Amino acid sequence: MKKIIIAIDGHSSCGKSTMAKQLAKEIGYVYVDTGAMYRAVTLYALRNGLFPEEGIKEAELKAAVEAGKIQISFQFNPETGRPDTYLNGEKVEDEIRQMAVSNHVSPIAALPFVRALLTQQQQAMGKAKGIVMDGRDIGTAVFPQAEMKVFVTASAEVRAERRYKELMGKATTEEEKAALNFQEILKNVQERDYIDSHRETAPLRQAEDALVLDNSHLTREEQSAWLLAKYQEIVEKI
Ligand code: DC
Repeated sequence: MKKIIIAIDGHSSCGKSTMAKQLAKEIGYVYVDTGAMYRAVTLYALRNGLFPEEGIKEAELKAAVEAGKIQISFQFNPETGRPDTYLNGEKVEDEIRQMAVSNHVSPIAALPFVRALLTQQQQAMGKAKGIVMDGRDIGTAVFPQAEMKVFVTASAEVRAERRYKELMGKATTEEEKAALNFQEILKNVQERDYIDSHRETAPLRQAEDALVLDNSHLTREEQSAWLLAKYQEIVEKI
């Protein structure tokens, strides 16, 4: 069967990654989480003191990017059945999901030189097709020619609730649990929505030819079934 490119875009914490991963597994495609790539660059910036009180040390980050000091890769983890993210050879899958990174990632993702670097890497990953890629600009900027584009959304409250539950599930101590605050998570979701949709370079927007999925009231199984059915419809026509 002919392989295609599947671009899945949408707001943060709307379950895109879960759906995308599941679809990739079902149809034997490679899955790429581009948000993880922006998160890995953010982690690099945090670790290297590139976030002073105000703003970002842009020139230093640009120099690091140009010197090839930020190498991001993925390795399939047979235990979880998912790819893990690596930064300069170190597994950072858990660290990039922490609030410290979530709170700093949007301004990093707004930097044109960061987007240029990651877009180029993502396009290289999709050369052979047979890929499911999720992000914010996949159907608009990375693969505007993708055969299948999906734009996923849900209300900010529903997304914050899901994120809260996910972080609670991951918290291992009572202290970690007590530190989680729903209002703070909601604020983070809303702020990221705003920055992601209003930045100058490749803002989050729905591609004109994207299929729209509002999953506020759908179960995971319903979403997966919807996505698989759409994929089958599209490949049958090619
Ligand atoms: O999907 P996520 O929440 O892990 O994404 C992290 C951040 O990266 C989010 O603020 C949006 C940004 N991002 C982006 O600008 N473009 C992408 N293709 C993927 C993510």
